[in-house]
Amino acid sequence: MGITCSKNTDGENPTTAIKPATKEDLLAVQGVIDKILEEKNCGPLFVRLAWHDAGTFDMNVKGEWPKAGGATGSIRFEPEINYGANGGLINAVKLLEPVKEAHPSVSYADIYQMSSARAIELAGGPKIDMIYGRADATSAEQCSPDGNLPDAEAGRESGKYGGGSMEDETPNGHLRKVFYRMGLNDEEIVALSGAHTFGRAYKDRSGLGAEKTKFTDGTSETAKQILSDGKEAKYTAGGSSWTPQFLVFDNSYFEYLYDKSADEELLKLSTDQTLFDDEEFKVFAEKFRLSQDDFFQSYKKAHKKLSELGSKFEPEGGITLD
Ligand code: HEM
Repeated sequence: MGITCSKNTDGENPTTAIKPATKEDLLAVQGVIDKILEEKNCGPLFVRLAWHDAGTFDMNVKGEWPKAGGATGSIRFEPEINYGANGGLINAVKLLEPVKEAHPSVSYADIYQMSSARAIELAGGPKIDMIYGRADATSAEQCSPDGNLPDAEAGRESGKYGGGSMEDETPNGHLRKVFYRMGLNDEEIVALSGAHTFGRAYKDRSGLGAEKTKFTDGTSETAKQILSDGKEAKYTAGGSSWTPQFLVFDNSYFEYLYDKSADEELLKLSTDQTLFDDEEFKVFAEKFRLSQDDFFQSYKKAHKKLSELGSKFEPEGGITLD
C-alpha cells in the first residue's frame, strides 16, 4: 500500500523549489485543520499521529539529521507507517494529505504537530506554546527504526500490534527506558500519559480494548459525547476509552485511573496503572488528579518538548503564531 506524498523541496526538484513556510501559510493551515477537527472529531487520532512521529527520537544517536528520529514527518512513509505500534495511523496521514497538497510550503512534520496541538486546545486542553518551520524527512530511507515507541504490554515481540520494544518487561521500567531515551523525565512521562484522557483503543489497531463499550457504542446515554463548547459530538462508535467523555481534554484520566471502583468498561493499560503503583510516578499522578491546573501546566511544557524532539527548524528558532 503506497502513500502518495506531495513533492518536497529537499533536492528533489530544484527548479520548482517550494518556498519556506511563512506565518501566513501556517495560519491558513491552522484554519483548515480546525475545520477537519470540527467536522470529524478526530482529535485523538491526530494527537497519537504526532506523538508517534516524535516519540521515535533517540538522544543517543549522533550523526546526520534525521538519523536520531523525532518529529520529522517520517511516519508518512513505509515501512514506518506499517510498524505494529502505528496501527490505524494511516487514517490520520490520509486525512491530512489534502492539507499538504493545498499548502505545499508547510511541512508534513509541522502539519502533524499542529493538528495535535490544535486538537488539544479545541478540546478544552491547555494552549501549547508551539513553534513551526520543521524540515521534513524526504524518503523511506529516513524512517525511524521500529521498536522505539512504548508498548502497553511491555516485552511483546514486534508483530501485528505491539510497539516491538523488548526493553524491560515491567511497565514502569519499560516506560523509563523508552522515555529516557527521548530525553524525557518522570514528570513528563506522567503528564504526557495524561493524553489518554482523550480518545480510545481499538481492537483492530492496537489489539487492545473491547469492540465497543457503554461509553463508545454511539447510542446509549452514557456514550453521548459533549464537546468543550457544549455541543454534542458525532463520532464513529467503537473501542474502549479511558474516560467517559473521551473527546474532552481534562484531568479525568487521573481520576478514573486512581478510582479502584471505576466502571470496568473504562480502559486501564498496565502502563497506565503503573503511574499510581510506582512511587516516583505516583507523586505526579496524584498531583495531576487533584489539580487540573497543575496537570495542564506540566502537560503543555512536556508536549512542546515532545513536539520538537529531533526537529530541524527553518529559521533556526522556529516560527510562532502569536
Ligand atoms: C506511556 C506510554 C504509552 C503507551 C503504552 C500508549 C499506548 C496506547 C495504545 C495501545 C493506544 C490505543 C491505540 C489504538 O488502538 O488505536 C493509545 C491511544 C492513544 N494514545 Fe497512547 N500510549 C502511550 C503514551 C501516549 C502519549 C505520550 C500520548 C500523547 C502525548 C498518547 C496519546 C494517545 C491518544 C490521544 C490515543 C487515542 C487515539 C485514538 O483515539 O485514536 N499516548 N495509546
